[in-house]
Amino acid sequence: MCGIVGYVGMRDAAPVIIEGLKKLEYRGYDSFGVATLGSGIELVKHQGRISGYAGSANQLHGKIGIGHTRWATHGVPSDANAHPHLDCARRIAVVHNGIIENFSSLKRDLIARGHRFCSDTDTEVVVHLIEEAYARDHDILVAVQQTVPLLKGSFALLVITADDPRLIAARNQSPLVIGIGDGEHFAASDMTPVLEYTERAIFLEDGDIASLLPEKIEIFHAGTLVSREIQLINWSPEQAKKGGFPHFMVKEIYEQPLAFFNTVCATDTTTLPAFAAEKPSAVTIVACGSSYHAGLIFRYLVEEICGIPARLEFASEFRYFPPPVEGLVIGITQSGETADTLTALRKARAQHCKTLAITNVVGSSVSRVADETLFMCAGPEISVAATKSFVAQLAVLMQITNCWTGGKCDEILQHAHEVIDDTLLIDLSNAVSLCVGAASIFYVGRGPFYAVSLEGALKMKEISYIHAEGYAAGELKHGPFALLSPETPAIAICMPGETYDVMCSNIKEMKARGAPVIALGCVGDSELVDIADIFIPLPGTHLFAQILSSLVVLQIIAYKTAVALGRDVDKPRNLAKSVTVE
Ligand code: G6P
Repeated sequence: MCGIVGYVGMRDAAPVIIEGLKKLEYRGYDSFGVATLGSGIELVKHQGRISGYAGSANQLHGKIGIGHTRWATHGVPSDANAHPHLDCARRIAVVHNGIIENFSSLKRDLIARGHRFCSDTDTEVVVHLIEEAYARDHDILVAVQQTVPLLKGSFALLVITADDPRLIAARNQSPLVIGIGDGEHFAASDMTPVLEYTERAIFLEDGDIASLLPEKIEIFHAGTLVSREIQLINWSPEQAKKGGFPHFMVKEIYEQPLAFFNTVCATDTTTLPAFAAEKPSAVTIVACGSSYHAGLIFRYLVEEICGIPARLEFASEFRYFPPPVEGLVIGITQSGETADTLTALRKARAQHCKTLAITNVVGSSVSRVADETLFMCAGPEISVAATKSFVAQLAVLMQITNCWTGGKCDEILQHAHEVIDDTLLIDLSNAVSLCVGAASIFYVGRGPFYAVSLEGALKMKEISYIHAEGYAAGELKHGPFALLSPETPAIAICMPGETYDVMCSNIKEMKARGAPVIALGCVGDSELVDIADIFIPLPGTHLFAQILSSLVVLQIIAYKTAVALGRDVDKPRNLAKSVTVE
């Protein structure tokens, strides 16, 4: 939530920061702002998004600057609440990602001491506190070092002042990466704004404060100079571009065969940490959003295929109501930064469980919280709605399942990406036409396909804004049936096997209440052709293949419906890709 970018070097800072902010808009776009050190602090900030902005921010002067794109928490989206925020003398500028939890009392005290506030944000207290400390020592690094202990909450901060050529960066529980260039340094919420310029990065630790000059970087922790490892990030700048596709989301959907295959190859039994390679006595999964749905699929696989008891918890619930857990705890988070998932893993460690994280982002916070981390190989995912990162999560989770069965699923895992390839060719135009006119859409399935239904419904509601709900098919008649009508199509995933007949009955029941039904089933299923209004034949006979192909179909239906409705597919309203606040 919120993206920040800083630059110090030989280039004009403003264009670097503006282009960087455009790449971070997936973190929020309620407002944007840039401050540079030109003739004093030069500042432009506005409500709304920076992409498409044609104003004067590019003309700000200076080779050092900071910028921000906002996902509003404290204070409505407005010019005044946009970052950067300035001190009373307008000589210090601050951008912030996170939440200052004790801002109310700090603000009261600062106002009592004569500070003037211009916004309703929690962030503004930071710049006034720095102002006070700076007035004492006239050293911006020292001022930030003295301010940070006064703050409770999460923050990634970038600070510049009119009197000093240094860019100061501070981190506590919000992501912050330093890009190491030749004669220039970058600071950003993630690597995407930096990829253009360098692949060398330092991921700051909680409590780190960095002082950046073009040729020099110093990192302090608890007042002591420390050294941090430089990591090489092998994401290319091209991967973070649309490459001819109209939206990142569809590009990322089409990248799924590769994301799946690369991740399967990178996650063989030799890469699993010893404590996860062994079949555990029990598994607990903690996650949020789409990652929770990946966890639900995994839960079914682990229980059904491996016979291991598994429980799944929303990380946001687990952190406050942690049940007694034993065995292995797995945290799934594509961003590696979801605050609730990080805290849930800490709670699991407090119960002496071994913790394993699954993430897409090298250097992300989760790798410092869990005992071990498995990285997916999905490449950068820019669209807010998770697609290829979800499929790559499944690749890791299916490989773990495979490992616990002694390699019984090797064959399908080597070929499952081909099934995704085939699925991308399916004509879904009839299903999309039906969904475009829907008031509400119900998704139903059983077992792992219930989990796929939840994810399909989430994709639909988050990007098309059509109300959609996923249900375990047997639950629909316990209430939701009251809502069925010709305006509420149902999408049913109906695969051969134990639940096939009962799913067919469910389809007939929904149709009897007037709801048109789109059925996803095995290619050649003539019964579904007869009973459903629209039949979508899926390739693949193995359970893994069916999960992947039904999922991809639902992603594409959601995408095409959203496009037909003219939605902002990659940046759906009110949502952010990385949720670093509770
Ligand atoms: C946000 C995103 C979702 C994502 C969820 C969990 O809500 O919009 O796409 O599934 O966070 O994110 P994580 O990074 O932990 O997987």
